[in-house]
Amino acid sequence: MFARLALTAIAVAGLSQASVTAADANIPQQPTFNKHVAPLIFEHCAACHRPGEVAPFSLLTYRDVQKRARQIQGVTSKRLMPPWKAVAGHGDFQGARRLSENEIALLARWAETGAAEGDPKDLPAQPKFTDGWQLGQPDLIVKLAKPFDVPAEGPDIYRNFVLPIEVPAGKYLRAAEYRPGNRRVVHHAVLAIDPTGAARQRDNGSGFTQFAVPGQLFPGSMAAWVPGREARPLPEGFSMPWRKGADLVLQLHLHPSGKPETEMSAVGLYFTDKPPVRTMLDVVLIDRKIDIPAGEKAYRTRDTLTLPADSEVHAIFPHMHLIGKDVKVTAKLPDGGVKPLLWIDDWDFKWQNYYEYAAPVKLPKGTQLVLECVHDNSAENPANPSMPPKRVTWGEQTNDEMSTAILQIVPQNETDATALAQGLGLRIVGRISAGDKGGTGSVTIAALAAAIKDPPQLIRLLDKDGDGKLSKEELAEIPGAAERAADIIAKFDANKDGKLDANELMEALKAARKR
Ligand code: HEC
Repeated sequence: MFARLALTAIAVAGLSQASVTAADANIPQQPTFNKHVAPLIFEHCAACHRPGEVAPFSLLTYRDVQKRARQIQGVTSKRLMPPWKAVAGHGDFQGARRLSENEIALLARWAETGAAEGDPKDLPAQPKFTDGWQLGQPDLIVKLAKPFDVPAEGPDIYRNFVLPIEVPAGKYLRAAEYRPGNRRVVHHAVLAIDPTGAARQRDNGSGFTQFAVPGQLFPGSMAAWVPGREARPLPEGFSMPWRKGADLVLQLHLHPSGKPETEMSAVGLYFTDKPPVRTMLDVVLIDRKIDIPAGEKAYRTRDTLTLPADSEVHAIFPHMHLIGKDVKVTAKLPDGGVKPLLWIDDWDFKWQNYYEYAAPVKLPKGTQLVLECVHDNSAENPANPSMPPKRVTWGEQTNDEMSTAILQIVPQNETDATALAQGLGLRIVGRISAGDKGGTGSVTIAALAAAIKDPPQLIRLLDKDGDGKLSKEELAEIPGAAERAADIIAKFDANKDGKLDANELMEALKAARKR
């Protein structure tokens, strides 16, 4: 932290000069806390900098802020705070927590002119925060079986808890709200579904440690919680069918606070009677060919895909691990135009976000999506977990790397939805399907990859009606298999009952592998 502040001081010396001149005309000569600074801090900082929240100190009173005026000038000018990584001009996002150049210059001027308090009459009321459920009383609340102990010191912990849930017949999920018990230690949370029962076998009641999420992510923004984020229900027209017997898996990224702590998380689930009437596809851009030599400073990865139908992008979730540095997603339109979708130029694994566009981004059929990532595996990268650096390859563990972005795409009609589903095949890692009244709603590559070597597990993953075999419809859930499902059954259904059992599926998989 201190090293970072020293850097900050250097940056401030150069930066505040430039920004203060540019924004000069708009900033008062003598800003005061009550009139100018408090409204800004309350809006952009207080969500995390208040008692019991993730930040290590409060920023609610003049004293709190005044004694850190210089430090605040430093971290804001370097854009370390507030943590919002998306570069302005590359996507216009809901809840963007980014300070303008003017606001940064104002905080600098306030610090440089003695951090005056000002007239008490100017002080706005402190912001109000809901301590209870933001979306109201949930229909079902699930909690950890028992509090989890987080030690005072040590590395961050990725802990997976299996929470069996029972969704009544005829009900669908319309929202899931995550609530940490102890915000000092929960850095982020991921909600996933495990329809296979595999995670349940590993959780003896106090969770198990694993960096890779053991399940399929919840669709859309329900998948991820980060501090300061507001809970949001699925958009109008969407809900999520829950398969009987599937488990909710909660992954917590826990950060020791310096004191022994305990964590008791809860998830509130909200139901509706309405099945989904619209389709939503989580589409992945991914480059798995990662092999970064030790010491390599700017290792580039890239992926592209072309949209087979008109699409609306509602959100984007970029993902790399610790030594990711830069991630950019661009849409190249068929008419030659270019739309920037997202750019993060100082990736920080700790501050990931599910970025939702303020308005959906419309992309015509034929648009090419381009993902470009840069990893820094040099010794100068303070986030490098290996010193001296080691060769790094693709994988799901902390010291492996990834280059991915998931785009939440909402087709405007079912013809486009079908064209996208067929054309994108394995690119689809999550899905809500219009009219889906049961089943998993989505099958991910990760879940398939884990199950594909084990036909009984693959059957459990896809078998909606629980008869232990795969029908044509169930087989069609495998991304890319929809058009071939009938042929596959015709060819491998040895006992001619119209479905594939584990032995028949084994033969089909063997044949597929040979091709
Ligand atoms: C999303 C939550 C969040 C928001 C919003 C936020 N902070 Fe922070 N802040 C943190 C956390 C957590 C830390 C502890 C250091 C870390 O984990 O990076 C921190 C640390 C700091 C530090 C100490 C930095 C250091 O290097 O020791 C300062 C100063 C600070 N924040 C100021 C601000 C200001 C000013 C704002 C608003 C303009 C703000 N923060 C908004 C979460 C937040």
